Amino acid sequence: MSTSLTDEQKQAWADDGYLIIRDTFSKAELDRVAGGVLRAVKTGNCLNGNKPYPTPATMYTVEGQYQDDPDLLFIAEHPAVLGPVEELLGGPACLSAFISYLKTPGAQGTGGDYQGSHPTGHCDYKTYQQAGSSLNWLFAIIPLVDLDEETGPLLLSPGSHKKSRIVPVNERVSRVERANASDIAPLVDAKLRRGDLAFMSMFTWHEGRANGSDHDRFGIYNKYRALDAPPACGPQLFSERSYDTLSEEGKRLMPHHSDLPLAEARLIVEHDGKVLLSADDHNGWRLPGAPASIDSPTGQSVTSKLIEQLEVELLDSVGVEIPWMTFVADYSDSSGVRRVFAYSDDEGASEEAVSGQGFRWVDNSGINPLMEAKELDREDADAIRRWWEERCVRGTGESPTRAKQGTPE
Ligand SMILES: [Fe+2]
Repeated sequence: MSTSLTDEQKQAWADDGYLIIRDTFSKAELDRVAGGVLRAVKTGNCLNGNKPYPTPATMYTVEGQYQDDPDLLFIAEHPAVLGPVEELLGGPACLSAFISYLKTPGAQGTGGDYQGSHPTGHCDYKTYQQAGSSLNWLFAIIPLVDLDEETGPLLLSPGSHKKSRIVPVNERVSRVERANASDIAPLVDAKLRRGDLAFMSMFTWHEGRANGSDHDRFGIYNKYRALDAPPACGPQLFSERSYDTLSEEGKRLMPHHSDLPLAEARLIVEHDGKVLLSADDHNGWRLPGAPASIDSPTGQSVTSKLIEQLEVELLDSVGVEIPWMTFVADYSDSSGVRRVFAYSDDEGASEEAVSGQGFRWVDNSGINPLMEAKELDREDADAIRRWWEERCVRGTGESPTRAKQGTPE
């Protein structure tokens, strides 16, 4: 682990919502990681890879979860990154997204906030994105060129992270009151240069300007989360080859890795200390759910498509509207990954909607007997136990449609 942050650095982080450590990396390290990014882009191993590099005014996105290039992935476990990450997050962390953006000359700047209050600035805490829906995460930004006036600076709003608030929904789940652009201080140029390392809070408002230079604007924009703050939407899965590329010690950074598809989603609906089970086809019981239909595993919103599908299925089969859900656990067999989410129905809408045959409500004391009688599978029972017993910081995950409801386009 690297040397600890100074009190001044910690104070800057607390006050500003970001921390810039200048001249962190050697030229050799920067050349190595830049080489890894360029190789992925030139071989088309990235989003927009169908456009031959260098197509002008194009953003190529290299997703580390599908890479096996040690020249790229080593930076994720670099001690100069990992030490401060774990200090700032307050404990053990993992990597929730490994992303490099490469913008060719003429490429646009960042888009605005999805809630519509700013045309270009935004914060990336998002209920419908996998990494963004954790309640304790940060960016580690490593510019691979100088982000000067021409290349497109990164602008940050000091203190804007204090304007979004985490508010309890109940004792297990919290939601976020996201700041509005009118709440925040003006965005200022962070003057990031090649070799610098910037940490940025999940709530910090920022903007990346367009590339008006004659060279590529590129860098690493990784997201790390506290291990005990799972993404409410559920994690995106890193590929096995990506996992294998990390060092033995670094493998702990990718707890969610699999080459299997997301095949099914189930939901724990809890009300008044009981969970809802539905009858299965074999005289037993199971958590209600739906098969997943996911075309492509890529993109930051892919896991919230599962939420959307579960929402539709629950409304259809149970007649209950599920306003949010939060990721609990994944279970795999040969056909794919079954993802289990949970929803606390504090108002009891589902209790009224669900009646009659085919459903039952079971409390803590009823789960083990059902499992021992082989009327409830071990994995559903395990998910329910985790939901009741695991001490995690959980947020609310939403489908993209629901998250953007009522906000201007
Ligand atoms: Fe952003």
